Amino acid sequence: MILLIIAAKLGRCRRFCQFIGGPDLKKTKIAGFCIPSMALLPILCYPDRRLHTVAKPIAGVDARVAQLVRDMLETMYDAKGIGLAASQVDVHERLIVIDVSQERNQPLVLINPELVWTSEATHLNEEGCLSVPGIYDGVTRHDEVHVRAWDAQGQSRTIEAQELLAVCIQHEMDHLMGKVFVEYLSPLKRNRIKTKMLKAQREDAR
Ligand code: NI
Repeated sequence: MILLIIAAKLGRCRRFCQFIGGPDLKKTKIAGFCIPSMALLPILCYPDRRLHTVAKPIAGVDARVAQLVRDMLETMYDAKGIGLAASQVDVHERLIVIDVSQERNQPLVLINPELVWTSEATHLNEEGCLSVPGIYDGVTRHDEVHVRAWDAQGQSRTIEAQELLAVCIQHEMDHLMGKVFVEYLSPLKRNRIKTKMLKAQREDAR
């Protein structure tokens, strides 16, 4: 198994439930949310039960969905993540935004994504998540996946993804099924993470 260190890219959060915005924005506390903000969408923090909601398909790309895409991209870039699922912003619809480019200028929008092919080969990758800030651990993923989805204009397309993009797509698609990456870990590790997250939430609420 090769351990790819991609954690820093997958989900950096400066500190648990810390407001991640410009210095001019005031910190607002909303129970259960990681990144409250005025303009940006708040990100649910594990172990919030809402993260386990199974997302529903999107019927069509209308003005509401287009606005959601814009807000999710803004939220993802602001949080310095490389992927964000609508489930993480408490919208339980099948929508993912991703940008794995170094320059942070190649947004990828996947609406109603479906895996149409996965490689037999797998690797253990170190992952993180904007909903579980500060936690990184190994998850085994397919090396390559082909995913069919609508783009931001509602056009169907198939993407052949390898390496970091493949990992990111699998991670974000899990969110749409109500699954957070820590659920791949042992019950012992998961409970430790849960305890740590809850403690940080309590401290932040003070
Ligand atoms: Ni995540």
